[in-house]
Amino acid sequence: MKRSLPELQSSPQPLVMVTAYDYPGGRHAEAAGVDLILVGDSLGNVVLGYDSTAPVTLADMIHHARAVRRGAPNTFMVVDLPFGTYHTGVQDAMRNAVRVIQETGADAIKMEGSSPEILSVVQTLTRNGIPVMGHVGLMPQTATAQGGLKVQGKDDASARATLEGAVELEAAGAFALVLEVIPARLAKLISEKLTIPTIGIGAGAACGGQVLVTHDLLGVYEGEEKKIAKRYAEVGQISREAIEKYAAEVRAREFPARDNSFVMKDEVLDKLY
Ligand code: KIV
Ligand code: NA
Repeated sequence: MKRSLPELQSSPQPLVMVTAYDYPGGRHAEAAGVDLILVGDSLGNVVLGYDSTAPVTLADMIHHARAVRRGAPNTFMVVDLPFGTYHTGVQDAMRNAVRVIQETGADAIKMEGSSPEILSVVQTLTRNGIPVMGHVGLMPQTATAQGGLKVQGKDDASARATLEGAVELEAAGAFALVLEVIPARLAKLISEKLTIPTIGIGAGAACGGQVLVTHDLLGVYEGEEKKIAKRYAEVGQISREAIEKYAAEVRAREFPARDNSFVMKDEVLDKLY
């Protein structure tokens, strides 16, 4: 059964969130019993092949989130608002969030940042009944302005800004908060200061929950493991080896075998000759 917001916010166990981008991803996440599914704009990196999340559009997010929902009708689903869809004013943000909710069946949306502009968007959306998950620390949509994809909150000013942003997002009405790639002790402090759950990625074990990009935890891409993710499978290797085996069997005329083929009666065939 789908967890309600109050259930998620009072969970005695760490919350489990994974990303999904399509129907099989939604099915697997729901069958595994995760607490929340995030249709992340990491879609751009791991599914669409971009080198950042900036090119991802609202139409992309809606298209993929609809497929996830078909695979996971009974899991709390959060959808990322992509870059540019909540930065041009509160009304645009509201309109785009409503589209995501109406067209995908999302339970909540997520957005990055804690600037005064973002805080007023969070306030407006939550006052109008759209649950918002916040996101501070490393924020891939604006990583260039953050000096690249690197640990945030390490020095005094950056740590203070991250902490204050988190507190302000809770005050603005966010129901939960992603902490991405910040020192574990800063994440612990933030998690203790807030009453809403924090969901960490590269933010240590003291958060109220954890999130991973599913393609990272599955090992969809062969090569080096990321520091912030643990690989629980080698799906990339399994996929490549399966395709190699299929290719070899086709070339050796081993596939399709008799069992994969259909038969017909000799007398029917004889008439054709
Ligand atoms: O897009 C995404 O996958 C995310 C998570 C890493 C939190 O925002
Ligand atoms: Na994201």
